[in-house]
Amino acid sequence: MTASQTMNQRLLMLIIVLCSVYCCDCFKRIKYPKDCHDIRLGGHIKSGVYKIYLNSSYSVKVLCDHQVNKSYTIVQQRMYGNENFQRTYNDYQIGFGSVSGDFWIGLIMMQHLTSQGNTVMDLQLQDWNGNNRAGTYQHFSLGSAQDRYRLQVSGYAGTVPDDFSYSSGRQFATYDYPDTYNCAGNQKAGWWYNYCSYALLNGIYYTGGPYVPTGGYYDGIYWKDWLGYGYSLRFTRMMLSHP
Ligand SMILES: *[C@@H]1O[C@H](CO)[C@@H](O)[C@H](O)[C@H]1NC(C)=O
Ligand SMILES: *[C@@H]1O[C@H](CO)[C@@H](O)[C@H](O)[C@H]1NC(C)=O
Repeated sequence: MTASQTMNQRLLMLIIVLCSVYCCDCFKRIKYPKDCHDIRLGGHIKSGVYKIYLNSSYSVKVLCDHQVNKSYTIVQQRMYGNENFQRTYNDYQIGFGSVSGDFWIGLIMMQHLTSQGNTVMDLQLQDWNGNNRAGTYQHFSLGSAQDRYRLQVSGYAGTVPDDFSYSSGRQFATYDYPDTYNCAGNQKAGWWYNYCSYALLNGIYYTGGPYVPTGGYYDGIYWKDWLGYGYSLRFTRMMLSHP
């Protein structure tokens, strides 16, 4: 065998190796992953920040929590208190905040996720002593934008009493598109209000737990039947997954 033949063989080998890595990956990769489940199918099994798509031109950065069995798309998180949640309807539609801290993914993407089979909503809550609680709603969906993302939530099991179903059947409201009783204005948050709410995860981030509301309404991040209206939680997470 001549030196040039050996070179050619090596080159061929290199091409085969590169192709097996890249070409095969192209087959697996989903061009426009719609949720963290698609990200997982594409071979990315490390939890972290990825991009998901509503269509070829509308995408958002998202936090994926890949567990052994299942991948969760995180749609809301409170952990540092450095993001303002007293925001307009438009902001709540398109989303805001930073996926490495406090954020809201946006109603447009959240509604799309539920329409694409992400109908299980998991909640994680933590108080200022580090106590954790969790709950799962087996049926979670949002109505259309025309119907103001009306909430349907049921099928609860968890380590705190169910305080979110009270909001089921309600439209999303903000101070500039308020509910009938202006809970959105009084509680200073976007949420599905039912005069007003037993659980409010988009409230004001009060450090330390017990708080005195600035107005006449409880406006912290509360879960009524765990620590009461007057205790604001340290950490919350809302995450969607497939059944
Ligand atoms: C993608 O979705 C967004 C949000 O619903 C919409 O405004 C836009 O027209 C869509 N683009 C395409 C190419 O479908
Ligand atoms: C995986 O799923 C099975 C069946 O749903 C469940 O019993 C098991 O606990 C899960 N394992 C982990 C590590 O979550």
